[in-house]
Amino acid sequence: MSFGTDSIYREIILEHSKHPRNRGTLDPADFTYEDVNPMCGDEIRIDVRVRDDHVSEIRFSGRGCAVSQASASILTEMAEGKTLAEVKGIGKDELLDEIGIPVSPARMKCALLGLKVLKAGVYGVDHANAALDEV
Ligand code: FES
Repeated sequence: MSFGTDSIYREIILEHSKHPRNRGTLDPADFTYEDVNPMCGDEIRIDVRVRDDHVSEIRFSGRGCAVSQASASILTEMAEGKTLAEVKGIGKDELLDEIGIPVSPARMKCALLGLKVLKAGVYGVDHANAALDEV
């Protein structure tokens, strides 16, 4: 890793951790999910409002290292306005690309915690809708 790339990486992480986008909660929300990084106990919660099958509002909250919080902040910007199907399609490589440079294996769980939470939430909604369709 070159020094220059490392410094850009730190800038993106620092910028989002100092000025997180979409930080907070939504009450009511159409779905909420939270999870913990078992390695460190850090937590992320994501609340989403859905309109016409699109993510109309999204907020994250919780506590954790700069990488986990910045990654969740970046993720909320990626997800806002997307359809639920598009959110399901957000892959870890796409998120890591937005973060800017390769994340070390030791930090990978930090960087992906928000994505894990969002995916669990959006798949939960689908299961709930499927269950309703069967009624
Ligand atoms: Fe806990 Fe990064 S050290 S999420």
